[in-house]
Amino acid sequence: MTEPKKLFIKTYGCQMNVYDSERMAESLGASGYVQTDTAEGADMVMINTCHIREKASEKLFSDLGRLRPAKEANPNLKIAVAGCVAQAEGAEILRRMPLVDLVVGPQSYHRLPQMEAKIQKGERAIDTEFPPEDKFDHLPERKAMRGPTAFLTVQEGCDKFCAFCVVPYTRGAEVSRPPERLLAEARNLASRGVRELTLLGQNVNAYSADGYGLARLIRELAGVEGIDRLRYMTSHPNDMEDDLIAAHGDCPQLMPYLHLPVQSGSDRILKAMNRKHTAADYLRVLDRIRAARPDILLTSDFIVGFPGETDADFQETLALVREVGYGMAYSFKYSARPGTPAAEKPEVETAIADARLQELQALLTSQQRAAQDAMVGQEVHVLYEKQGRQDGQMVGKSDHLHAVHVTDPAGKPGELVRVRVTESKTNSLAAVRLS
Ligand code: 5AD
Ligand code: SF4
Repeated sequence: MTEPKKLFIKTYGCQMNVYDSERMAESLGASGYVQTDTAEGADMVMINTCHIREKASEKLFSDLGRLRPAKEANPNLKIAVAGCVAQAEGAEILRRMPLVDLVVGPQSYHRLPQMEAKIQKGERAIDTEFPPEDKFDHLPERKAMRGPTAFLTVQEGCDKFCAFCVVPYTRGAEVSRPPERLLAEARNLASRGVRELTLLGQNVNAYSADGYGLARLIRELAGVEGIDRLRYMTSHPNDMEDDLIAAHGDCPQLMPYLHLPVQSGSDRILKAMNRKHTAADYLRVLDRIRAARPDILLTSDFIVGFPGETDADFQETLALVREVGYGMAYSFKYSARPGTPAAEKPEVETAIADARLQELQALLTSQQRAAQDAMVGQEVHVLYEKQGRQDGQMVGKSDHLHAVHVTDPAGKPGELVRVRVTESKTNSLAAVRLS
């Protein structure tokens, strides 16, 4: 028997890249690769990239620079670039970086085995097409046993064209996977130990296939034997339909957690961003969701320093944050991305944008703290994911996605238990098991 080849994948960016990396590893498994967790001694190093902000993009080139000595020492080492930077800058990467053997865009992962065969012959391979066939239909079935949580990509791409965003260009138009395939994949994952699924899509609540919207898909997935918890991300406020909001109220498997990015609290900036909703529209959607599920934990994304943002605009963002009270949120300094409409506009001074980001992050951090502290004394459910660092300790996530440590020497990964929260620590809760 030949030794399996070792594959190391470094993943940047969103959860969809995490899911894709897993599927690529499975696909290369057919070509004799097993995944390792270090680049040292690997036969192939793959970098799964993110293009969303300049900083994320630049990491590819510093990683490649660091791989140069390893490639010189071992010319058989194969270097592959996948993900959204591969999609956006494919040919340029091959031109600038002679050490790269393979460049594959997010829609072409099912073609990896053929590409791998090509690079084994000493050629270079690139595929950044948007092929007509669905990559997921051509990837191998998922076989390995796994932890109790998994991602499931249900939708890809975006038709919204927010003025700052590269996603519609790198991931292409919105495409939803057929519900029967998703149900089959969910059953398969459940049979391998998965109890919690997070449905992924760049615009997941725009899911639409074979007469199914996201709400109907969630209700069917909730009926899959063994699936106890469902989440979804990322959503657009304009696609929060009535039936999806209703599901938050009456589908017990749907967890009380919603990531609903607003980006800014200023109507002027929202308009310039091409978001197609106002701050008041967004707040109305949140009111309806809270009416359906009062204990829901809300999270968001914000961009500060979008071209033309004045101090008054920024104050409106702070006011919106104060009004909502987020459980958690990501905030970013605007980063001009080539090819997007906003990249043409004059930028806000860096020092001003930096100061705004700091102020917003301080407010968001204090809200996150308050939301976590408010859990102390409450009874919640925790899905154990793994053993904790301390003896006899289990760690998992609560319904609200807080990390929870429980002293439970008999606990096992995959158990869904009831606990009482006793303490709020820096980034997690401590709890005692009740049942
Ligand atoms: N600059 C800064 N942040 C951005 N995002 C998307 N594009 C940009 C950009 N050009 C942020 C948005 C989005 C999240 C995934 O990344 O807040 O919701
Ligand atoms: Fe980008 Fe999200 Fe806007 Fe689509 S909805 S363009 S993915 S920020």
